[in-house]
Amino acid sequence: MDDPIIPLKVCHGTWKNFSYFIIDKETAEAVIIDPAWELSTIIQKIKKERLILKGVLLTHSHEDHSNLAAVIQSLYKVPVFIHVHEIELCSFTGPVLEAIRTEETICLGRNLKIDPWWTPGHTKGSICYFANNSLFTGDTLFIEGCGTCYVNDSGSAEEMFASLKRIKESLNSDARIFPGHSYGTLPGASFGEVIKRNIYLHFTAEQDFIRFRMRKKQVGLYNFR
Ligand SMILES: [Fe+2]
Repeated sequence: MDDPIIPLKVCHGTWKNFSYFIIDKETAEAVIIDPAWELSTIIQKIKKERLILKGVLLTHSHEDHSNLAAVIQSLYKVPVFIHVHEIELCSFTGPVLEAIRTEETICLGRNLKIDPWWTPGHTKGSICYFANNSLFTGDTLFIEGCGTCYVNDSGSAEEMFASLKRIKESLNSDARIFPGHSYGTLPGASFGEVIKRNIYLHFTAEQDFIRFRMRKKQVGLYNFR
């Protein structure tokens, strides 16, 4: 267990998601990001690595990122963190919810420190979590593209443009990217690599980005071009 980040591929039918553990190697204390679909896989990993779970962090409210949050909360008696907009605008409910209202560092256990970056666009309360020079991007940024911006999901292409700009301006090229879905490339690519192959990071004009992101005739959610 050298890497403090453990990705877990979790599937259900055609859904393929990634949940992640961030671990403090000194204490084995850990948080899980976006637990979904495979409860026994997650429990087995916690047992095998002897992790002491301290919290659940959700990037946003969509079911494929959050459907095990409540059961994990009740099994391990840990808080569930999610942006306040996902609760108020997207009607996310669950026990022991910690509404994230600012970008103040989340401190859990002895040493776990995670910075929430508010990155609206896919949904109004989408968050990327930064820790260990790694960004956990949910459906905001994929290795190959970026998330959808449907208005009825509280999404906005304007906000997505601003969020991706913020990520570009904030990350070093050696930071690692851990998205909620990954197609063809394993999570953990360096941001320098992602920039090279992700067309959505290449727009400099907001209107061009919006036109491209909202273009008609996109074949499938994850056909990014
Ligand atoms: Fe989503």
